Amino acid sequence: MRDKVKEGYDKGDYEGDYREGREVREKERELMESLFDGIPSESKILDLGCGTGLPFDRFLVEKDHQVTGVDISEKHVEMARENVPEADFLQGDFFENDFGENSFDAVVSFYAIFHIPREEHFDLFKKIREWISDEGAILITLGPDEMDDFEGEIGGQEMVWSSYSAEKNVELLEKAGFEIITTYTEDYREETHFWVLAEPVQ
Ligand SMILES: C[S@@+](CC[C@H](N)C(=O)[O-])C[C@H]1O[C@@H](n2cnc3c(N)ncnc32)[C@H](O)[C@@H]1O
Repeated sequence: MRDKVKEGYDKGDYEGDYREGREVREKERELMESLFDGIPSESKILDLGCGTGLPFDRFLVEKDHQVTGVDISEKHVEMARENVPEADFLQGDFFENDFGENSFDAVVSFYAIFHIPREEHFDLFKKIREWISDEGAILITLGPDEMDDFEGEIGGQEMVWSSYSAEKNVELLEKAGFEIITTYTEDYREETHFWVLAEPVQ
């Protein structure tokens, strides 16, 4: 699955016609503002599957946060370094870097976690819980429904998605030590996304 995803984003035209002129949309901005309510100003934020850094990492650094982005696509990481030189970007898989306990105030991940097999989502949630401080928060996008190796196309390349239902996502996040603050299901460009804002259980 990872090879297909990496190749798709490295070779595809995902950042071209597909997303030309993309900006942080109103609802995304609103969710981000809710995240900021729960974390200190000038927080350390990890962005998993950061893509080209646009529009989210640019938005986060302009709010004076210190951003570290991770992405499996070499092309995207190269673009991110150019687009947002104020942030740090690492090329690799979500699981490749063990950042250690309490390394970040927040973890964000937009439209990316559904590109790894759903059987690994719980392990990733547990890792994220380790990486953020007890006072931290997460804002992530997941799939809304059961998808098991769902195959499609993006930017002219084969792509693959994997997800549990929204209810199961919530159950797994709670089991990993999070308290759900807000969820939001959105339909956007023929896709449905399940947003979760959550904090560590105190
Ligand atoms: C749909 S794009 C979203 C990019 C960015 N978050 C945004 O919203 O613009 C998904 C991103 O996740 C990255 N990705 C997918 N699987 C990954 C993995 N296992 N480890 C790290 N990055 C991954 C892809 O390379 C791609 O850049």
